[in-house]
Amino acid sequence: MQKKLNKIAKDTNSFLKSFINKQKKSELITAMQYGLFSGGKKIRSKILVDIGYLFKINYKSLIIIGSAIECIHAYSLIHDDLPCMDNDTIRRGKPSTHVKFGESTAVLAGNSLLTMAFEILSHKDLKISEKTKINLINKISKSSGHLGIAGGQYLDLSYEHKKISEKKIIEMEIKKTGKLFSFCCAVPLILKKKNKKEIKKFENIGADIGLLFQVADDLIDYKGNAKTAGKKTGKDKKKGKATLISLLGYKNTIKYANKLIFKTNNKLKKYGSNSKNLNETLDYILNRNK
Ligand code: IPE
Ligand code: IPE
Ligand code: MG
Ligand code: MG
Ligand code: MG
Repeated sequence: MQKKLNKIAKDTNSFLKSFINKQKKSELITAMQYGLFSGGKKIRSKILVDIGYLFKINYKSLIIIGSAIECIHAYSLIHDDLPCMDNDTIRRGKPSTHVKFGESTAVLAGNSLLTMAFEILSHKDLKISEKTKINLINKISKSSGHLGIAGGQYLDLSYEHKKISEKKIIEMEIKKTGKLFSFCCAVPLILKKKNKKEIKKFENIGADIGLLFQVADDLIDYKGNAKTAGKKTGKDKKKGKATLISLLGYKNTIKYANKLIFKTNNKLKKYGSNSKNLNETLDYILNRNK
């Protein structure tokens, strides 16, 4: 699993490096590269490749689309760490982007990574039809905006130090993290021109995987080691973050996460041994320590 993940990370980074190298230089690019290449598991690309495998999608296209997704993810982390959001100074074992380059540079580097995702998806090197590209851009935009990452981040911050219901916590976690995973799971079906209903099925699978991922991240914050995690731990409690752990407790949250894995694996059963990679990735997501 780790080997496969490393290969995907390496291929994604080399696509992104060559994409950036073909562009003119700017003052912001150093901060952007710092946010993109300072580590990062590239788990979203792994999910994309795993689902892509079920639908026999060409690996190179998946790496390019995954690179766009990773740009959005990197942007979301730069902004998440800002003093006006989670105010975190360490990310991936290094100073956060705003600590290293200053707040205004971090905001602008984040913005530029967000828009770079659209540049990548609309680029001629991605060999898919223009109509399909528009569909991808439409979906990834929705996953990132007020009904996705940005909207979820808004809720995450507005729920601090409040008693929030389980339903609302789940809805918030699905927006801030799940929607981008929904996009990863929908991509192969969009490329195969599947109908809306089938796409929706995989978006729902993605929402559960993203929720699982965020719950596991919350567990790392609760129990994990800061050095291994590459970021401060124990901060959610201090900040009064509304998480399932804060509501249900540690043990019940682990049970909840296992149920999500069981539910997702069940939905994938019909793909037989082709879904083995994905089953492995789900276990990795819950059991990881960074
Ligand atoms: C951390 O994401 C933020 C969440 C959405 C929970 P990752 O754990 O995927 O971050 P990197 O890219 O591997 O550092
Ligand atoms: C971040 O969630 C979710 C994003 C969409 C960026 P967290 O705030 O829990 O992520 P970490 O723990 O700082 O990585
Ligand atoms: Mg946050
Ligand atoms: Mg944070
Ligand atoms: Mg966290």
